[in-house]
Amino acid sequence: MAQTASTAAVAQAPRHIAIIMDGNGRWARMRSRPRTFGHSEGVEALRRTVEAAGELGVRYLTVFGFSTENWRRPVEEVNALFDLLRLYVARDLDRLVKEGVRVHVIGAREGLQPDLLRIIDDAETRTGHNDKQHLIIAFNYGGQDEIARAARRIAEDAAAGKLAPSEVTVERFGSYLDTADVPPPDLLIRTSGELRLSNFMLWQAAYTELVFVDVLWPDFDKAALQSAIDTYRRRERRFGGADTEQP
Ligand code: IPE
Ligand code: IPE
Ligand code: MG
Repeated sequence: MAQTASTAAVAQAPRHIAIIMDGNGRWARMRSRPRTFGHSEGVEALRRTVEAAGELGVRYLTVFGFSTENWRRPVEEVNALFDLLRLYVARDLDRLVKEGVRVHVIGAREGLQPDLLRIIDDAETRTGHNDKQHLIIAFNYGGQDEIARAARRIAEDAAAGKLAPSEVTVERFGSYLDTADVPPPDLLIRTSGELRLSNFMLWQAAYTELVFVDVLWPDFDKAALQSAIDTYRRRERRFGGADTEQP
């Protein structure tokens, strides 16, 4: 890749922020409430964060709502998380449509109930012409699963003669991922103090700046988002290039 001034420079405002919204269960436990109460409060934090991202000029916001591994949780909790997606769309879709937010839902569609699939399709269709802000909801999402699904489709296209093996480049592979229309995240925030990716955006995070914060997701707000952005702006992004400080 050609060396340009922008390959190793102090980061500007992030265009795309991805968030692992973690810590709902611990937030509820601290209050002696059920985990599902933490998840409900987590939806309020999501609302605040979508609004704050718009105000701070963040064009793309991706949030991790349910992982392919979260099926391991008790069925009541899984159902509650599904219900919260239903509720979020029911309560917020009109406003998102009006405010110019385009909704994308990434992740496997297999395993989701038919009514949820309809709700997802409706949200994507009704906001499909918006471009001011993008909200990408990762639901039933796993980075490994996404890469495997992309590889499967590439193999199918190759077997059908639509694609030669030599055409499978990094760019072409990316176009088969769920995030084909979305730039890679500049900044990834994980709340709750855990220091891992938990199968989130494995391909897309190749050069993403990672910021881990101790705040539990239901407490996340605009100030916490601003603080993570401030941290990001002090980073030097290199993309494999050389240190800009040295001649
Ligand atoms: C994040 O909070 C929400 C989801 C994973 C759906 P958790 O439910 O993981 O909360 P902790 O990590 O147990 O506190
Ligand atoms: C990641 O959090 C998934 C979501 C935030 C939706 P988890 O709480 O499931 O991750 P682990 O199990 O602590 O790694
Ligand atoms: Mg967790």
